[in-house]
Amino acid sequence: MLKITNLHAEIDGKEILKGLSLSVNAGEVHAIMGPNGAGKSTLGYVLGGRPGYEVTGGTVEFRATSVTPGQARGDEEGEWADLLSLAPHERAAAGLFLGFQYPVEIPGVSNVQFLREALNAQRKGRDEAPLSGGEFLKLAKAQAAGLGMDYEMLKRPVNVGFSGGEKKRNEMVQMGIIAPRLAILDETDSGLDIDALRAVGDGINRIMRAPDKAVILITHYQRLLDYVRPDFVHILSDGRIVKTGGPELALELEADGYAGVTA
Ligand SMILES: Nc1ncnc2c1ncn2[C@@H]1O[C@H](COP(=O)(O)OP(=O)(O)OP(=O)(O)O)[C@@H](O)[C@H]1O
Ligand SMILES: [Mg+2]
Repeated sequence: MLKITNLHAEIDGKEILKGLSLSVNAGEVHAIMGPNGAGKSTLGYVLGGRPGYEVTGGTVEFRATSVTPGQARGDEEGEWADLLSLAPHERAAAGLFLGFQYPVEIPGVSNVQFLREALNAQRKGRDEAPLSGGEFLKLAKAQAAGLGMDYEMLKRPVNVGFSGGEKKRNEMVQMGIIAPRLAILDETDSGLDIDALRAVGDGINRIMRAPDKAVILITHYQRLLDYVRPDFVHILSDGRIVKTGGPELALELEADGYAGVTA
């Protein structure tokens, strides 16, 4: 679904990604861990197309896949697109979703308005008919309920005055409504209380665990991975992936720290 090859990117002339390669197949969950400042959020921003990040080398190919049951992983069908040549809104319409480490507040725009516009813009980009007000409301109510969020919060301006944990939960409601093919979730577990962590973990599994979807979970801790079990765990350090393993790698990190595991 995603093939990143030797990606180099800089911001303000400073190279942050230094030859990063990563492949993600449909049906997989990949966790990315790594020290502060390693470039994890930068990777998310570059994939999402945030302005200010200049790609200086490498390629990123993306395809929203179709999978028939029983098909082998990595053997799915679909057209590959050059992700970096697409505008951010085209990437979103193609099925990419980025959950922010620090969700932004949008005063004056209600969650419901924002999500309906976002969803219908993406549907338009895919030549699909827009959802009516009634259809959208039903979907939004179901997704809020799925994440244990009071529907009244969806009427409030996007993230304005939301607590840290509420913002993260709100991001998962957005993800449920948008229904992306590939979600990149940047520290979605930070700031969550124990019950919210479970709700968000369950939400990720419910929304994204499917043969034609994939997830990249950026996280510092094992705790989210207890709920959303990764197929692969990567360590990103100084702008590249320096080690890849299975779920046990996250446990080793917790026990031994980065120096112990990458030595
Ligand atoms: N505008 C900028 N100018 C210079 N350096 C920047 C700029 N923006 C980000 N950086 C640097 O890029 C590096 C990577 O940042 P990034 O946010 O990707 O790290 P991260 O791996 O997500 O870290 P964390 O675990 O703390 O979230 C950091 O050293 C940061 O200071
Ligand atoms: Mg970060």
